[in-house]
Amino acid sequence: MAATTIEGINFNLTEEHLAVQAAARDFAQNELLPTAIERDTHSVFPYEQIKKMGELGFMGMMVSPEYGGGGMDTMSYVLAMEEISKVDASASVAMSVNNSLVCWGLEEFGTDEQKQKYLKPLASGEIIGAFCLSEPEAGSDATSQKTTAEDKGDYYLVNGTKNWITNGGTSSVCLVIAQTHPELKHKGINALIIEKGTEGFVVGKKEDKMGIRSSDTHSLMFSDVKVPKENRIGADGFGFKFAMTTLNGGRIGIAAQALGIAAGAYELAVKYSKERKSFGKAISEHQAIQFKLAEMATKIEAARLLVYKAARQKDEGKDYVESAAMAKLFASDVAMWATTEAVQIHGGYGYVKEFHVERLMRDAKITQIYEGTSEIQKLVIAREILK
Ligand code: CAA
Repeated sequence: MAATTIEGINFNLTEEHLAVQAAARDFAQNELLPTAIERDTHSVFPYEQIKKMGELGFMGMMVSPEYGGGGMDTMSYVLAMEEISKVDASASVAMSVNNSLVCWGLEEFGTDEQKQKYLKPLASGEIIGAFCLSEPEAGSDATSQKTTAEDKGDYYLVNGTKNWITNGGTSSVCLVIAQTHPELKHKGINALIIEKGTEGFVVGKKEDKMGIRSSDTHSLMFSDVKVPKENRIGADGFGFKFAMTTLNGGRIGIAAQALGIAAGAYELAVKYSKERKSFGKAISEHQAIQFKLAEMATKIEAARLLVYKAARQKDEGKDYVESAAMAKLFASDVAMWATTEAVQIHGGYGYVKEFHVERLMRDAKITQIYEGTSEIQKLVIAREILK
């Protein structure tokens, strides 16, 4: 199947890349697939599976071995993200946030003390992290942070609420974006490492979501939370730049997730179309179905090329802001469209919960929303074109 292989495309994939891809595929098929529908139905977080993903090295793939990570490149990460997302986007969003928003941000901008204390257990999968930027009134308009981090000398006093936080309930460590100097607008924002269990830090309600229902999404409340100064990431006022820079890489992870959701639905649709008969033959022999499969394969392959390009640019130290935004914009649209087509090919069976395509279609929608909506990706791309 052309759209599920990488044959013929020279992205210089090594034996190691293919081994990572195969390991992720095996894990997804053997450990995630059997419980995916049950966990989705009852909104149960995959605790055991995420623990195993940590043991296999999937939770800190790009972190240096010095800090307990796999020392792999972004290409390995997107290959693994695609395979896991083909089966379970709830598990893959926990993986994506931990890898590209939490671990990457800490490794790139944290102090050695912060890395020893927080990055090591995060990269080895011993604990999970969360990235806390969104607020009830600050989603796309991320500079409008209402959460405050008042400078009290040797500590910050944090007050505010964060919304829709992935890994919100299960995380032990949160990277929290908060305003310290409102008069400086985005240049007054800080990024702070806040541990669960700190007095005044309360986990709010778990969201009852349309898709990625087995992922753990909460609001988080901070009421007079004291955070030591040494838990600030980067210089005073670096927090917004930290969030934006980290999200550039995060978008490659979500683009790979969207690609995986689309490819997973496509693979199921190909299989089903060969099994299901109508008008005396397999529906794959009807041109109406063949055209759908052909278009799905083409668009998925195009999304894959954009994802690989962004990953390669990041690995080669090139600017990847535009390519990451393009990959996320395109792959998330392909995911929504391809999963809808996969449901259509399954007909009535595609509309019921025993068939995975129903879940994949619901899961696809979030990829057009989180880590920057499709509208924000267009804004990012246009600014890059016009600057
Ligand atoms: N990379 C690096 N820096 C960036 C940047 C980028 N992509 N985009 C903006 N910046 C910098 C700018 O250079 C500027 O810094 P300087 O003043 O030092 O030059 C600063 O950020 C402010 O930028 P703008 O003046 O352009 O601010 P704006 O308000 O006009 O636009 C925005 C900012 C691009 C819209 C930004 O708010 C944004 O990206 N919004 C979307 C937020 C988002 O992606 N949220 C996702 C939530 S996290 C999540 O979903 C995780 C999860 O749990 C799954």
